[in-house]
Amino acid sequence: MPLSDFITALDELATQALAAFQATADKSALETARVEFLGAKNGRLKLTQQRMTAVDPADRPAAGQKLNQVKSTIQAAFEAASQRLESAALVQHRDPQFDPTLPGIVPKRGHLHPITQTIAELTDIMGRLGFTVADGPEIEDEWHNFDALNIPLDHPARDPLDNFYLATAGRTAGDGPLLLRSQTSTVQIRVMERQPPPVRIIALGRVYRPDQVDETHYPMFHQMEGLLIDQGITMADLKSVLRLFASSYLGTAVHIRFRPSFFPFTEPSVEVDMHWQDRWIEMGGAGMVDPRVLEAVGYDPEQVTGFAFGLGIERLCGRRHGITDIRNFHYNDVRFLHQF
Ligand code: PHE
Repeated sequence: MPLSDFITALDELATQALAAFQATADKSALETARVEFLGAKNGRLKLTQQRMTAVDPADRPAAGQKLNQVKSTIQAAFEAASQRLESAALVQHRDPQFDPTLPGIVPKRGHLHPITQTIAELTDIMGRLGFTVADGPEIEDEWHNFDALNIPLDHPARDPLDNFYLATAGRTAGDGPLLLRSQTSTVQIRVMERQPPPVRIIALGRVYRPDQVDETHYPMFHQMEGLLIDQGITMADLKSVLRLFASSYLGTAVHIRFRPSFFPFTEPSVEVDMHWQDRWIEMGGAGMVDPRVLEAVGYDPEQVTGFAFGLGIERLCGRRHGITDIRNFHYNDVRFLHQF
């Protein structure tokens, strides 16, 4: 068969196929046309292809090229028809009762949770004082939650009843137990283990203690930890930073008061109060980082000193907004949340 005959046959086939696909009015007609032209066994394209053996071998490459062209043309016509029917179906299924001119249902706009907002604000204030954010896991080992923080084995803070120890399968005996961190002080250790001094970080996040639930206690709450290590750091620096922080957060000059206290990882240790709206408000604990903690992370206590503090975020946010029951932060009642 001469090449020109083969080409003519293909052109005719293309013309017919295009007309057929364009004319289809529904999916079953489309399928019929597809089988007729593109069917894998007896489709007309396939049958025409089989006739290529009759073409002079010298002309076969040209014939093959033409065949491929026609094949993609027909396939494209099929796709186009299929899309045309698809969108027609969408229009058809549209609810005739639907009136696009009616006002819609106004979606309720959400916003960030007050604790999340507070975390962002505290991060911003401390950032201006040169503190960058550090992070640590909420599931901790005893080294970071206790040992490195100079909390001895017999210390009551390690009592299983005062902590959420985890029953973890597949850990070998030597690994030691895991627990939900009871304080963000764990991040102090993680940061100091990672980098040499100086250090100037804050860590904000959840901590867990199996407290009985009441207005001021919840088994999960948030803390902001601060840690500054450098040469010649004193308690005056600690007080200045806390005063600047509290004044920025509350928007007025705030007095800071230190009361003697004890934490195994600071020496001396203090409870921090701030004076605001004629009241003394407890902010959290603080102190000068104990030399034993510095040693535990490989720092030289003769070279550097530093301070650390840990503040309750619910408490800060609650005081500023007059929220007296911290359970409200966790009920997720939108009537409460939308006020912030
Ligand atoms: N980690 C202590 C607590 O949770 C607070 C604290 C942090 C005290 C840093 C001193 C220094 O109670």
